[in-house]
Amino acid sequence: SKKLLVDVDCGVDDAQAIMLALAAPNVELLGITCVHGNTRVENVCKNTLRVLKTCNKLEIPVFKGADRSILGNIRDAGLFHGVDGLGDAPDPSAPSLDLLQKEGAVSAIIRIVNENPGEVSLVATAPLTNLALAVRIDPTLPSKLRGLYIMGGNTESRGNTTVCGEFNFVADPEAAYIVLNDYQCPTYLACWEFTCHHKLPWEFCDAWLGQDTDKARFMAKIFHYSMEASKTERLQKELVAGEGFVSCDSYAMAAAIDDSFIIESEQQPVSVELAGTHTRGMMVVDTVGLLNKAHKAFIIRNVDMEKFKEMMMAALR
Ligand code: BDR
Ligand code: CA
Repeated sequence: SKKLLVDVDCGVDDAQAIMLALAAPNVELLGITCVHGNTRVENVCKNTLRVLKTCNKLEIPVFKGADRSILGNIRDAGLFHGVDGLGDAPDPSAPSLDLLQKEGAVSAIIRIVNENPGEVSLVATAPLTNLALAVRIDPTLPSKLRGLYIMGGNTESRGNTTVCGEFNFVADPEAAYIVLNDYQCPTYLACWEFTCHHKLPWEFCDAWLGQDTDKARFMAKIFHYSMEASKTERLQKELVAGEGFVSCDSYAMAAAIDDSFIIESEQQPVSVELAGTHTRGMMVVDTVGLLNKAHKAFIIRNVDMEKFKEMMMAALR
């Protein structure tokens, strides 16, 4: 089985990604670490516990991590995920934060990877603050990973948060820079435009949410807000092209779960713009090799959408 460790800012698509991992028969989910992003980190922790409760998997340890970026900034994506991160559809019997582990997220990442050298795939679907802090404390960490799967960055300089910037990288550009430079392990990037070019059609979403299970009812409840938001004019423009939902984080997760999910990728050195009036946080792809970086990331270009739909269906079954 595959050992996964997941770092989230549990919004709606993070929840979907977590549920993919929980449903995968070949996956052992070693833990979930939480970080600021879509909403405050306390909400992220609560949302993660809600997802685990829905799936009867509260035994999976959840760790609280950084509450702001390396430089101390906070953003949120309330317009898309709701202020609470899960569509502002609260659950009065949500699990208490007392269920969180006492150990912090950064320490947990370092410990878990060191306890399973060469075996852990790290899936990051959020600003990369926890990962950046972890590699500063333990520089050997990347060499002990099986792989790193990130949802973040962009390849066509189309933004969803700033003109040119994708949310996870813009929310902590320094952290993204550190991770892309210092994690010299097999690295797979599900970038913003790629996810937009691989939407789940609305008809699929209806069938997906229409399954007669508690998981599907939970998803329908938290998904309503971002589904409506996705149909607004501004978001339609942002979403690059076409009709349907973009479950961004689920692509990085699906790639970590199933090696045959990625059909086509492009290996390039990548970095992040740290200055720039419009470009801070934008991913930079060094197609001509001017950065002199030996390490190249796999930029995901095409995936098996039929497989993806099957995995998504199974996640709510
Ligand atoms: C990313 O930003 C967040 O809002 C989503 O959860 C996803 O991780 C997309 O840019
Ligand atoms: Ca996310």
